[in-house]
Amino acid sequence: MEDVKQLTILCLASYEKGHEFLRQCRRQGARVVLLTSQSLKDKAQWPVESIDEIFYMADDNGKWDREQLLNAVSYLARSREINRIVPLDDFDVEVAAYLREHLRVPGMGETRAHYFRDKLAMRMQAREGGLAVPDFVHVLNHGRVNRFIDRVPGPWVLKPRSMAGAIGIRKVHSKDEIWPIVDELGDMQSHYLLERFVPGDIFHVDSIIYEREVLFAIASGYGRPPMEVSHEGGIFTTRILDRQSELTRRLVDTNSAVMSALGMLRGVSHTEFIVSHADATIYFLETSARVGGAHIADLVEAASGLNLWAEWAKVEIAGGKSTYAVAPPREDYAGLLVSLAKQEHPDTSSYNDPEVVWRMDKRHHAGLIVRSPSHARVQELIASYTGRFASDFMAYVPPRSAPTE
Ligand SMILES: Nc1ncnc2c1ncn2[C@@H]1O[C@H](COP(=O)(O)OP(=O)(O)O)[C@@H](O)[C@H]1O
Ligand SMILES: [Mg+2]
Repeated sequence: MEDVKQLTILCLASYEKGHEFLRQCRRQGARVVLLTSQSLKDKAQWPVESIDEIFYMADDNGKWDREQLLNAVSYLARSREINRIVPLDDFDVEVAAYLREHLRVPGMGETRAHYFRDKLAMRMQAREGGLAVPDFVHVLNHGRVNRFIDRVPGPWVLKPRSMAGAIGIRKVHSKDEIWPIVDELGDMQSHYLLERFVPGDIFHVDSIIYEREVLFAIASGYGRPPMEVSHEGGIFTTRILDRQSELTRRLVDTNSAVMSALGMLRGVSHTEFIVSHADATIYFLETSARVGGAHIADLVEAASGLNLWAEWAKVEIAGGKSTYAVAPPREDYAGLLVSLAKQEHPDTSSYNDPEVVWRMDKRHHAGLIVRSPSHARVQELIASYTGRFASDFMAYVPPRSAPTE
């Protein structure tokens, strides 16, 4: 068994997040080395009391040069025994795998990391594992793309293989529209996939996996589909589903099937599904090997008492070498609302039901989490607050800047 006190955990963060991960590592006595972007230096408010060393890496618009990073980390490793490499942001998942393979640090390698980052790779692997996925084609061979649009009725969704937050996703309605858009992509074409737009509701399952077993999974449903909120504006909502419902059971089971098809060994995952309006089929939409963004971790914590960042730290520290168990979660219900606000500091104090447990503190944003032992009560509050948010705060949302992820 490894001695936690001797463990050095290198955390990569090209974006500021995961404070609870860092704190949990410290609580357990591990050494924490944080490598983050130079451009965040003056903005980020890292929990410095939980970090042993912090290094700033030059970045180009948040992106690191792989070779420079490899050199920098290898240099650090001359005088530090690095035992784990953990990506705090989704964009760091692949680069963490690349560094692990180079330094021969245990954990997810590059091939597997692609299944959790590349929407094409995850689709192909999930389909091979027998999961239902929206029909898709890689925007690579034009003959194949033509056969796809002849065979699969529109509308279609054209999406980049590895971006998040509905960035760059376009809904395409007719065949005539497709080729000019694809042509314009030029050399970027092969970084895209085209898939059938499946009308339905969008759900997410957030889970903790240890030694291939899903030890905790909680299913939630978005209000309006994230793409609509992102493209048309509006209020982003999501709420925990009724734990006793058939839909919850089906989503949780499908999530386990996704984790096993993609070979998730240990970690946390935020996985999304479409439940089709046509026949309630559950389609696998996308997954990730990280804690969900857009305050979903706060939602899950409100309902279950589990902080996914802290749990992930425990999982990484245990590392398959010692036992890890999830404490029995609380079974409350919770719902989250977020809207862009026309006010710089929107005042949410009139949303004063006792169920409000969290308020967002971010310029030009209004956000709340409500919690109740009753699923119906959460539904009721979300419905009424959504209407009130629309008149109190909602601002025009420029495309691609919605607070979804
Ligand atoms: N095939 C599809 N059918 C219907 N809606 C889709 C489809 N693909 C994406 N969407 C919509 O776009 C949103 C974002 O797509 P997703 O693949 O989850 O990418 P990301 O969340 O990384 O931007 C989804 O939440 C959903 O609203
Ligand atoms: Mg998504």
